[in-house]
Amino acid sequence: MNEEPQTSLRADYSNGQLENSVAIVTGGASGIGQAITELFAREGSHVVIADIQDDAGNGLAKKIRASGGKASFFHLDTTDESNWEEVINGVIREHGRLDILINNAGIGGGTTLLHETPFADWRKVMAVNLDAVFLGCKHGIKAMSQKGRGSIVNVSSILGLVSMPRTGAYTTSKGGVRLLTKAAAVDSASIGTRIRVNSIHPGFTKTPQVEGRLASDDGANFHALVDGAVPFRAWATPAEIAKGVLYFASDASEFVTGAELVIDGGVTASV
Ligand code: NAI
Repeated sequence: MNEEPQTSLRADYSNGQLENSVAIVTGGASGIGQAITELFAREGSHVVIADIQDDAGNGLAKKIRASGGKASFFHLDTTDESNWEEVINGVIREHGRLDILINNAGIGGGTTLLHETPFADWRKVMAVNLDAVFLGCKHGIKAMSQKGRGSIVNVSSILGLVSMPRTGAYTTSKGGVRLLTKAAAVDSASIGTRIRVNSIHPGFTKTPQVEGRLASDDGANFHALVDGAVPFRAWATPAEIAKGVLYFASDASEFVTGAELVIDGGVTASV
């Protein structure tokens, strides 16, 4: 008779790389953020899922706790500065520390040509994808300054390095995140801290954000375009992106700051 294997999240693959740490993952309830949350919990971190999706965030935290990990949920709209202050103060009150902040929450930028983009749409993309990452860096660095060390990882995109048609607002916001990261890294170091700030640049990754685009009228064209653009001839999985985020979050990258890591199956290496 086959016996059911005894599994728990920790026993399966934890190396304890984030043992005793407290991490906030924005947009941690879905897609890439969910994969980061799950991996960090397996690595021993207490993960604070910070998202506008209350049910999904609370549900994921519950699932992790049931599997032996440590997780909690805070409602956070990353575009709201006072909400950032409440969440970070709440985390410090509960845990006495903040070691890791992943600024992952983001939205797609629509499919309009740049010169046809309504200004309101442009501003919305900037608010969520760029302004909110500034707010995260600002309040994250302040909280980490108490201990003088920590790791902030900003999720940009390959579209923060290069562009493609009909992605003007998104590309601009993600390019901003790339240099905001370097500015935050340099300023944190200049005040004598070891707070590290780095950016991740995922390629095409199957998540709810792109599922919407794939379901749209030009979904089949988009799929074909992506398939043709990736040397590995595959979409990334959220888990593959999360592994790169873990590198920046953990001590494996302890002398790395202001750096960027591209995880794209070769897209940006190719013409
Ligand atoms: P997703 O849509 O699956 O997840 C995004 C999460 O962010 C959701 O849980 C959503 O509720 C949350 N969120 C959105 N606005 C928020 C706000 N104002 N405050 C708090 N939470 C908010 O998207 P996905 O694909 O997982 O994207 C995660 C990050 O990765 C984004 O920054 C995205 O731009 C970036 N990225 C995604 C790629 C992809 O192909 N999926 C490629 C490159 C970068």
